[in-house]
Amino acid sequence: MRKRYGVVILLVAIAALAGTSGPVTLPPPDMEGGRPLMQVLKERKSGREFSARELSPQVLSNLLWAAFGVNRPDGRRTAPSASNRQEIDIYAVLPDGVYVFNAKSNRLDQVLSGDLRPATGTQAFVAQAPLDLVYVADYSKMTNVSETDRLLYSAADTGFIGQNVYLYCASEGLITVIRGSIDRDALAKALKLRPDQKITLAQTVGYAKGAN
Ligand SMILES: Cc1cc2nc3c(=O)[nH]c(=O)nc-3n(C[C@H](O)[C@H](O)[C@H](O)COP(=O)(O)O)c2cc1C
Repeated sequence: MRKRYGVVILLVAIAALAGTSGPVTLPPPDMEGGRPLMQVLKERKSGREFSARELSPQVLSNLLWAAFGVNRPDGRRTAPSASNRQEIDIYAVLPDGVYVFNAKSNRLDQVLSGDLRPATGTQAFVAQAPLDLVYVADYSKMTNVSETDRLLYSAADTGFIGQNVYLYCASEGLITVIRGSIDRDALAKALKLRPDQKITLAQTVGYAKGAN
């Protein structure tokens, strides 16, 4: 028992030293709402004029679940992945820090503190919008896959997640744009990624400027 307390204290101390505050449990996602699919497809589009209005925890939870949440008891997700490797991690870059979406536990695990939104892309709006998602392929989950297929599968798998985000946004009155225009080396450094973690794309989400 004493040993377990020691481990907890050590973890808290490490988190404090790193300037992070540990996991943030999200409210359960609301899977009942949403507008009819054909209307949502009709309105899917990219938007780049963001207001600074923040997303509520419920909207964040719904968005991340739509993006790549667990939708079956066997742990499979709302987006497909090659051989079900589930190699894409979603880094949620928020004004107060960087979090990794833990789909299984429906929580955000904080990995960094501070506002890293400007580092997520080359366009000015990335720093103004309330949320930048960064899609990171974990190549350690893609062993026995050729380099060509790693690139192909991780790009394809990111695309499905990105489209889920587009559809959720069109349904909920949010705007979004998926982005390839990223200084990947600088962002990987800022996010303290391992060499076998590769940034595929990023996606900005928020409310349109001038919208209520
Ligand atoms: C792989 C990919 C990379 C993209 N990169 C960027 C980007 O860096 N910046 C940006 O503003 N839009 C980016 N876009 C959005 C496209 O410009 C947009 O989807 C296209 O103009 C069509 O507009 P629509 O999404 O409204 O149909 C990207 C889209 C894709 C699929």
